[in-house]
Amino acid sequence: IAMHKELDHLALTCPDHMRKQVRADLDGYERIFKRFLSETGPSVQWEKINLLPKEAIKPYSEIETPSKSQIKSMLDKLVVLKLNGGLGTTMGCTGPKSVISVRSEFTFLDLTVQQIENLNKVYDCDVPLVLMNSFNTEEDTEKVLGKYNNIKVNIRSFMQFKYPRIHKESLLPIPRGYSNNDLEGWYPPGHGDIYESFNNSGLLDEFIAAGKEYVFVSNIDNLGATVDVNILNFLLRQSVVSPEFLMEVTDKTRADVKGGTLVEYEGRMRLLEIAQVPKDHVDEFKSVNKFRIFNTNNLWIKLSAIKRVIEDDSLHMEIIVNPKTLDNGVNVIQLERAVGAAIKSFDGAIGINVPRSRFLPVKSTSDLLIVMSNLYSLKAGSLTMNPLRSFPSVPLVKLGTAFKKVKDFLSRFADIPDLLELDHLTVSGDVTFGKGVALKGTVIIIANHGDRIDIPHGAMLENKIVSGNLRI
Ligand code: UTP
Repeated sequence: IAMHKELDHLALTCPDHMRKQVRADLDGYERIFKRFLSETGPSVQWEKINLLPKEAIKPYSEIETPSKSQIKSMLDKLVVLKLNGGLGTTMGCTGPKSVISVRSEFTFLDLTVQQIENLNKVYDCDVPLVLMNSFNTEEDTEKVLGKYNNIKVNIRSFMQFKYPRIHKESLLPIPRGYSNNDLEGWYPPGHGDIYESFNNSGLLDEFIAAGKEYVFVSNIDNLGATVDVNILNFLLRQSVVSPEFLMEVTDKTRADVKGGTLVEYEGRMRLLEIAQVPKDHVDEFKSVNKFRIFNTNNLWIKLSAIKRVIEDDSLHMEIIVNPKTLDNGVNVIQLERAVGAAIKSFDGAIGINVPRSRFLPVKSTSDLLIVMSNLYSLKAGSLTMNPLRSFPSVPLVKLGTAFKKVKDFLSRFADIPDLLELDHLTVSGDVTFGKGVALKGTVIIIANHGDRIDIPHGAMLENKIVSGNLRI
């Protein structure tokens, strides 16, 4: 009751022209909050978890490639949606993550637009690109969209919900009234609200009416998430019933043991996240042998099925309780949901085990170094691994805190070194790289506190440890 009153107050204090939207957001929030209060106990019981039968996850190599003449009509049924609610704060940038330059001065958004533009050109189609923005990214994203006006891509966007953070102890909202300038009081509640926000925006109905059948959803920071016509063909050419939900998964390596995995639970396919795993089973969850694959968050979802699960109220995603500490030291919680968790609400859900190349996320400047380097080449907005690399795995790169912000990272490299033969790079402390540097095998460069290491122009480091103080 106290929460209801507080939410009512927030809705009443917002500007008149925003009231309808704010009211809808807060009503949604109240429903989640009620669930959070009533759903006590763990969201999964470990004993009820079963490994999936073999046929539940199909190897990508077993799906067929369509003929060129079939592709246009298939693409006419597709909508591409990028999750664009996140900020670039982890890499020290203000504003949407999608406007960070990642390769040849192109941003995540530029590369996505180029990919769709190319698809539309090659197959003479009109695949729309939809952006799900958050209140954090909406304004800045809209500003940059102008530069694509002359490009043949129909770009649409909608905004996800805006929910109030709540005090960890009292569970009452942080904002005392509605203000557009209150950045700490509100949050975008994870990508799980895509279903309802997409529906509320009217776009879902519009696309269904226009004959679209599937939406391909992915993280905008996953440079490997391009439209794959083999997967689309697999979905559209099922003779009996087409799957309502397809999750692209890929083999787990020791570097991604924390990623969510697919399991069978109560007779349905379910996404199991590490946060749901009881403490004494965490090692088992992380094991590469038992849970072999993880979710790339590349998802293909049937539009009519989204409509159905919303209308019959059968859409369900576990609530993720995300604790945070605000700048003023106040402990808060955010109630969030993940888009992939809805897999259990759809019929005929399936996983496809895709090559690792479809999962190329840029989460840190270490990832940025890899995608900016000669390990990849860029064509029509897509990155492909350089064929000159003798084995297809990506090197393990760990850049220290001096490289964390994009600005600092860029200032420390005169140009991006040759990484073609690199396996492992660790850099720590005050280190800079000159032009034309090549790094091969395992390279470790450590400048201790107070020291500085400048790797000279043209240097070639192969299986080397560099430490101490090296200047030219
Ligand atoms: P995350 O920040 O959640 O990255 O954003 P993650 O933790 O690596 O990924 P997951 O959660 O395991 O998949 C993933 C994508 O979702 C968008 C971000 O912009 C990014 O593209 N996102 C995230 C939203 O659109 N809204 C949100 O509320 C959160």
